[in-house]
Amino acid sequence: MAQQKEENVVIFPFMAQGHMIPFLSLALQIEQRKSYTVTFINTPLNIEKLRHSLPPTSTIRLISLPFSAADHGLPPEAENTDVLPYPLIVHLMHASLSLKPSFTHLISKLSPLCIISDMFFTWTADVANQFGIFHSIFNAGGAYGMALYHSVWTHLPHCNTNSDEFSLPDLPEISPIHRSQLANNVKQANGTDPWSLFIQGQVRLWFSSDGLLFNTVEGLDQTGLSYFRRKKTGIPVWAIGPTRSKLTERAGAGDDRNMCIHWLDTCSQNSVLYVSFGSQNTLSASQMMELAKALEASGKNFIWVVRPPLEFDINSEFRAEKWLPEGFEDRIRKENRGLLVRKWAPQVEILSHKSTRAFISHCGWNSVLESLSQGVPILAWPIGADQFYNAKFLEEEVGVCVEMARGNRSEVREEKILRLIKVVMGETEKGEKMRKKACEVKEIIKDAMRDEESYKGSSLKAMDEFFDAALSMKKTRKQTMISSSEGPR
Ligand SMILES: *[C@@H]1O[C@H](CO)[C@@H](O)[C@H](O)[C@H]1NC(C)=O
Ligand SMILES: *[C@@H]1O[C@H](CO)[C@@H](O)[C@H](O)[C@H]1NC(C)=O
Repeated sequence: MAQQKEENVVIFPFMAQGHMIPFLSLALQIEQRKSYTVTFINTPLNIEKLRHSLPPTSTIRLISLPFSAADHGLPPEAENTDVLPYPLIVHLMHASLSLKPSFTHLISKLSPLCIISDMFFTWTADVANQFGIFHSIFNAGGAYGMALYHSVWTHLPHCNTNSDEFSLPDLPEISPIHRSQLANNVKQANGTDPWSLFIQGQVRLWFSSDGLLFNTVEGLDQTGLSYFRRKKTGIPVWAIGPTRSKLTERAGAGDDRNMCIHWLDTCSQNSVLYVSFGSQNTLSASQMMELAKALEASGKNFIWVVRPPLEFDINSEFRAEKWLPEGFEDRIRKENRGLLVRKWAPQVEILSHKSTRAFISHCGWNSVLESLSQGVPILAWPIGADQFYNAKFLEEEVGVCVEMARGNRSEVREEKILRLIKVVMGETEKGEKMRKKACEVKEIIKDAMRDEESYKGSSLKAMDEFFDAALSMKKTRKQTMISSSEGPR
């Protein structure tokens, strides 16, 4: 039998792929670096699915809490936002509150060192409190993006004005944001709709935790980190990113990987534009057409991870003859100019390849960190969620990005895309500046993760501080228990 490690760390993400994956990376990172047992908690179907993506050598314990989607008026298999149509996602959020009794019971039995839970599960702080256990929220987004998210949901500033631009009262240092940078759910929020009721209730309670963990880097994300630090609550805020570790690759991914890497090997240094919108997003049919025309007209090399456009099943087969200009794929193949990759690409390997020069990205935070970790500047095309804020951050605060388009409904023109590709891929002053800055950021990230005898980077130090705080609370808890059992009757 495997030896039990002494302390138990509970990890509990919200039931959405975009939350589960970064939490799993965090869990694997803790497993690698610390001598704790890691217990990963979720609902039965999510745990079942996760079993297959854990590396076979992992000792992470998976525990499922009973959950019946049907009891909440959801389809019976609906345990993850990924299988739900948009209007039902908020139902799953409300339904997740029903996990509290079984979670409480589990914690009473496990008595863990700490609980690291999701930004949508703030009620877990009550449970932790009840047992004197250290509690932290792990926020998988960047601090800047999450500061804007927190501020916008708290104040709903767009409801108080007809103007398309507005400032955030508790973030005076950033430039105004535009209505088109709001995700749909917040754009339509008015404070009494189901989204507002759930999310406003959650963000208010972020500070009832004993600390906040962010998947970001101290030297990169100061504006956002200081937003959370200057709130009067005084709880510690730790930047522990980037959390990344190799998850098991999909079956058949090896061939796709080899194809991409071999192709990149044939290209000259810094000549390739990598294009991907993440696994959950796609463009409208007309946007896709304009992007294709611009890529072809640019004369640059590219790898494009393609998915069927809006209104088609995102997992169905990609039909280049239908959705791209006539003869597009044949021409780029003949000229060895570009590669269309269907569904999956080895993103980290592409970004770290010497041929890759820039990235057209939706600016999901994971992609952002992967790009910056390799010093690759970004052409942003944010589509939803916190992506608009991330793009703003990269362009205005970090200087490694230009925004190329916004959303999946807007009209975009080949000319604009083409112009920006030329700026970033060409020998322009702006392009050079972005590249230089991206290389500086790469060093900042590398430094944050440095793990040497005499030097620990900021992210590793923050992780140590986090566990020191948890251990110190546990000591206090024990002493209180001893003194109360020794006290007079
Ligand atoms: C807010 O929005 C909800 C649904 O979107 C609507 O039913 C409600 O009447 C709105 N409330 C106000 C005060 O406008
Ligand atoms: C456009 O993107 C948003 C944000 O990701 C998404 O919620 C919406 O469903 C998309 N639109 C369509 C028509 O799929």
